[in-house]
Amino acid sequence: MILVVGGAGYIGSHLVKELVEKEEVVVLDNLTTGHRKAVDSRAVFVEGDLGNEEDLQMIFKSYPIEAVMHFAAFSLVGESVVDPLKYYQNNVAATLTLLKVMMKNNVKNFIFSSTAATYGIPDVELIDETTPTRPINPYGHSKLMIEQILSDFSKSYGLNYVILRYFNAAGAHQSAVIGESHDPETHLIPIILQQLLGQREKVSVFGSDYDTADGTCIRDYIHVTDLASAHILALEALLTGKKSTEIYNLGNGLGYSVKEVIETCERVTGVEANVEMADRRAGDPAMLVASSQKIFSELGWKAERNLEKIIADAWKWHQQQQY
Ligand code: UFG
Repeated sequence: MILVVGGAGYIGSHLVKELVEKEEVVVLDNLTTGHRKAVDSRAVFVEGDLGNEEDLQMIFKSYPIEAVMHFAAFSLVGESVVDPLKYYQNNVAATLTLLKVMMKNNVKNFIFSSTAATYGIPDVELIDETTPTRPINPYGHSKLMIEQILSDFSKSYGLNYVILRYFNAAGAHQSAVIGESHDPETHLIPIILQQLLGQREKVSVFGSDYDTADGTCIRDYIHVTDLASAHILALEALLTGKKSTEIYNLGNGLGYSVKEVIETCERVTGVEANVEMADRRAGDPAMLVASSQKIFSELGWKAERNLEKIIADAWKWHQQQQY
């Protein structure tokens, strides 16, 4: 049985939907940002906190957990600068409690959601796993700290882990039964789609004087279902003993500027956006594009859904009643 911590959140719920096809799944989520309705009915759901030893102990005693997948983190760069305590408390301290209870119960397989924010402002165009990690905000630091802890736990306690560094997760399940729903929403694609639906007045482009072809920031958008399939391959690799300590980037390997994303949304939906140029947002690197060559060569994974598909699926989700 697999424990998915944060399985009611955006990425966690998409993973659970795929994972229940193959494994028995327990979801632990405190529902602070997650949605109960997003959890597939085939999974056992426990409402509780990963920083609470009793909640965790109850799960490890009640279910034969073989591996833990951890999605329960706060992930907003700007918020992490304003309130670093929140990030270190949840993303580091609570995760340490989870790892402690895992070790106590002899559960030694862990899949960790990490981020492109560990790379900070890279000095290469295509980021691979050997690119130096130099976070520029508490969010990125909090993720990198856990990466370090995992490496140390592996050496001392025999923990096996796969760290997955996501680039820009986007899109929705193609059934439109689950999708992205943050409050407040800060991510580019949902903001554009909400504007196209008349739910917000305009889309602000944060900076048009970057050193990129059209002056706006470039990102690597990856479909949330592609992320889910990478997790399943990583889990299989751990459970079969094929891998014991790995770090993989997850991206498409293609960068799109903010302007290109807006144009693609307009083309896919047939609706014109109301766009304004605005100041830069603090902490935004000009360009973040992943090389996912390593996970392709080692586990055979590559992103299968392009930006059009990401936007088309997100559009279906945003057009209907959400959670
Ligand atoms: N953007 C706008 N207008 C908006 C919202 C975003 O122009 O209203 C721009 C941002 O400035 C950025 C791009 O669109 O250039 C993408 O922004 P998102 O907020 O959608 O995503 P980020 O790239 O900021 O964040 C993602 C993940 C984080 C991760 C970060 C790494 O969501 O978890 O990449 O830098 F930390």
